[in-house]
Amino acid sequence: MARSSTLNVAVIGVGRMGADHVRRIREVVSGARVSAVVDADADRAEAVAARAGGCAAYTDPAAALAAADVDAVLVASPGPAHEAALLAALAHDLPVLCEKPLTPDPASALRVLDAERRLGRRRVQVGFMRRYDAEYVRLEQLLRTGRLGRPLLLHQRHRNVTSPPGWTSDLLISDSLAHEVDATRWLLGQEITAVTVLRPAPSGDAPAGLQDPQFVVLETDGGAIADVEVFVNCGFGYQVRAQAVCERGTAHVGDGHAMVTQADGRWGGTIAQDYLERFEDAYDREVQTWVDSVRHGTPTGPSVWDGLAAAAVCAAGVRSLTEGGRVEVELPERPSLYG
Ligand code: NAI
Repeated sequence: MARSSTLNVAVIGVGRMGADHVRRIREVVSGARVSAVVDADADRAEAVAARAGGCAAYTDPAAALAAADVDAVLVASPGPAHEAALLAALAHDLPVLCEKPLTPDPASALRVLDAERRLGRRRVQVGFMRRYDAEYVRLEQLLRTGRLGRPLLLHQRHRNVTSPPGWTSDLLISDSLAHEVDATRWLLGQEITAVTVLRPAPSGDAPAGLQDPQFVVLETDGGAIADVEVFVNCGFGYQVRAQAVCERGTAHVGDGHAMVTQADGRWGGTIAQDYLERFEDAYDREVQTWVDSVRHGTPTGPSVWDGLAAAAVCAAGVRSLTEGGRVEVELPERPSLYG
């Protein structure tokens, strides 16, 4: 049903990302308000609700979704909690913006896809925000014009200052690489068919036992090769970069050279320290676009199919990391609902 009045959004999970999305909806986005916040941690839910003003705090997502003043849901709980939240939202036929990953594995992603197909229309958008970053959008548009010829190679980098406590080698794939998996599929307009994860000697600055960095090679059904360096304890900054090598030229994004200073016999700039800084504008655009689309009908951004495809590629990646060698991606037929 088309909505033109203010969209009442329940935000599930108000840790780092969720609390930032609550702030964004309050301060930046038009056409929406936060009507409920949900967190397993009752004190955190209360604190964020108090800051947001005029919204209820819950610890149980089901209770929040049953509330009368909830028109849409933003899921920002940890990945393993996404399936339950998504299935509950779909049972209420509510539109959802779900932070990546859609779910942590292909089997649960498929259950979400089946639930959405039973509704017969798209309700869920996945939070792959590189698709809303101005530089990435420009790169995708350039590749789509074909001016540089066919993309042959895509080199990508994903670096964080430090990994969160308890981070595992698998999470470098299923949580971090997931972004570049989606970016590869979107930039090239191709599906990823096989994954090889290479394991350089870990950095001495990485926590003991963590395979960091990792070097990932993705093969596509269009014959392109994408490589991704994932290095989550690089120590110096948060960097996300992509370079497409095409038949008649190259294009790259993510240098972060917005401002270069020259003083005291030196030149230089600053490096963003985290994703909230680097992708602030992209998150703003992502949430505004989602609000606009669901107020007038259907989410238009990355779909459950994109979430499932990313989960399938990441599952192959985790197998390659664990067992070694090249692992083929197992993906079902793309349902007609997803174009
Ligand atoms: P976080 O750990 O800071 O926050 C998660 C919050 O969810 C916590 O407050 C926790 O108490 C709450 N929670 C746990 N289980 C819950 C449940 N069943 N129901 C309701 N609340 C629950 O995690 P963070 O970093 O905010 O990540 C949240 C999501 O955002 C994850 O899916 C993560 O992958 C994604 N993310 C996306 C980024 C992006 O660039 N798009 C960047 C960082 C995270």
